Amino acid sequence: MTKAVLIVYYSWSQTTKRLAQALAAELTAKRVPADIVELTVAADTFSTDMYATSDTAKQQMASGQLPKLTNALPTLTDYQKVLVGGPVWGGQVATPVRTFLRDLHDFQGSIAPFFTDMGTAGDYEVDFKNLVPEVSVESGLEATRQLLSQTQKLQTSIEAWYAEIGLS
Ligand SMILES: Cc1cc2nc3c(=O)[nH]c(=O)nc-3n(C[C@H](O)[C@H](O)[C@H](O)COP(=O)(O)O)c2cc1C
Repeated sequence: MTKAVLIVYYSWSQTTKRLAQALAAELTAKRVPADIVELTVAADTFSTDMYATSDTAKQQMASGQLPKLTNALPTLTDYQKVLVGGPVWGGQVATPVRTFLRDLHDFQGSIAPFFTDMGTAGDYEVDFKNLVPEVSVESGLEATRQLLSQTQKLQTSIEAWYAEIGLS
C-alpha cells in the first residue's frame, strides 16, 4: 500500500529518536499513514564517547568511507514524502545519514530534514541539501534537548513545521 510519509532517522544517543517518535505520534493523531524506520550501523562503528565518535566521523568524511547501514530499508518509491532525521555532528549531517542520502537514487517525492543538536546547528541544512542536489528538499525542523523537554512547545513547533511542508 502506498503510504504518505516515511520517517527515517539515525540516533547516536537516542535524542533524535525522541523527536522522530513525536513526529510519528503527531501524524498518527492526524490520521496520516506513516512508517518509521531507524537507521542503524554495526555496533563497533562508533565509540560511546562523543570525542572519539567525532574523530571517527571526521575520518569517515575525509576518506569517503561512510558507515554501512545494517537495517533493511523500505522501498522509497512507496512514499510521497520522506522525513530524514539525525543529530548535528560538527555543524553537519551525521555520517550514517550521509550514507542514506548517498543511496537515495531517483527519489521523485520530496524530503525534509529534522535534526537535533545542543544549540549549534551550523550549516546543517545547507550541507543536507548539497548531499542530494537532485532531490526536492523542504525546510527543516531543528530541536534542541531543551525544546524536546517542553512538550507543548515541541508540539507547536512540529505543527508549524508540518504546516510548512504540507502535512497539516
Ligand atoms: C560527534 C558529535 C558531534 C556533535 N556536534 C555537534 C555540533 O556541531 N553542534 C551541536 O549543537 N551539537 C553537537 N553534538 C551534540 C548532538 O548533536 C546532540 O546531542 C544531538 O541531540 C544528539 O542526537 P542523537 O542522540 O540522536 O544522536 C555532537 C555530538 C556528537 C556525538
